[in-house]
Amino acid sequence: MRAAQISACGLPPVPADRPEPAPEAGWEPVRVLAAPITPLDLLCAGGASYFGAPAVPYVPGVQGVGQAGGRLVWFPTSAGMAPGDGSMAEVASARCEDLVELPAGADPVAVAALGLSAVAAYMALTWRGELAAGEQVIVLGAGGVVGQSAVQLARLAGARRVIAAARSATGRARAEQAGADAVVALGTDGGSLGADGGSRGVSGGSRGADAELGADDVAGLAARLSAACDGPADLVLDPLYGVPAAAAARVLRPGGRLVNLGGSAGETSPLDSSTLRSRSLRVLGYTNNELSREQRATAMGKVAELAAKGELSVAHEAVPLAEIASAWNRQSTGTTSGRLVVTP
Ligand SMILES: NC(=O)c1ccc[n+]([C@@H]2O[C@H](COP(=O)([O-])OP(=O)(O)OC[C@H]3O[C@@H](n4cnc5c(N)ncnc54)[C@H](OP(=O)(O)O)[C@@H]3O)[C@@H](O)[C@H]2O)c1
Repeated sequence: MRAAQISACGLPPVPADRPEPAPEAGWEPVRVLAAPITPLDLLCAGGASYFGAPAVPYVPGVQGVGQAGGRLVWFPTSAGMAPGDGSMAEVASARCEDLVELPAGADPVAVAALGLSAVAAYMALTWRGELAAGEQVIVLGAGGVVGQSAVQLARLAGARRVIAAARSATGRARAEQAGADAVVALGTDGGSLGADGGSRGVSGGSRGADAELGADDVAGLAARLSAACDGPADLVLDPLYGVPAAAAARVLRPGGRLVNLGGSAGETSPLDSSTLRSRSLRVLGYTNNELSREQRATAMGKVAELAAKGELSVAHEAVPLAEIASAWNRQSTGTTSGRLVVTP
């Protein structure tokens, strides 16, 4: 069969001939229809993840959608985190108990694009973040898959106002498309509040559109977020950490929650003690790895159901397996029009 193969950590995968997975009790072969290239795949294949450098060669892909025993299923793998191959192949092998049957009408590529990033957004909002109807939510990094999903899922959960923040103009356009009530620039770019009195629009400041933020920008970003909110926020969904998390925390109400699930903007954050203690904030971490198999399956089922109903989607692009190397490089440099999904 054809598969994407990583031969050395740090190098992109290339198409190669590989043997089909051998039959094994408790495992099921999946004819793969769609496998997304995710930050976790890139991290593991780089060899510097906390799982350690993977043994090479191996087939990457920590999740996918395919046909197994006549059913359309989503499946996870531990490729890159433990020995074994992943989803970026014509045929993959998955534990029977891990398969999640998808609803009729689900688009394999669209569901694969959402995948575990949407699961993380859903569980971080509802389970860890305890989002209640009528609350006001700030979504950081709202142009990514986690962020776009979180904007839509917060609204579906009954949030009264969703404020999105993103670094790039493209990310902000995606956040607006996802239905945010207001969109704030993380950098400072001279944008202004929307023409409808600021209830929906893009707010920015005075420098380059995609400027990286420094510690001095915490107050400025906090002011822009505050201006986009209708009073203090209840919950921050944070895949970025760094300056954006420190700024968003300043906009929370007493007892407000910030759920961190990634560190795209920084491994550390200038989150000050006075902000935390003066309002008794709750700063919470989240990882999909903590979910039980049942929780993960239920959340994935919910994501797929919403996708099939046309209520949840993220920007994505299908790419053939033959183009895996260039697709991998595009995803790792962030030069894509959305999540790239390999279609073996
Ligand atoms: N804890 C978990 O279980 C879990 C699960 C899934 C994902 N995650 C993590 O969540 C994060 C987002 O995942 P994703 O799937 O949404 O990834 P993604 O689709 O690749 O999006 C990443 C987003 O991060 C933004 N970004 C990158 N560097 C930034 C920086 N220095 N400052 C501000 N924004 C920056 C980019 O914004 P622009 O587009 O505006 O440039 C991009 O939209 C990743 O760190 C991922 O590892 C965690």
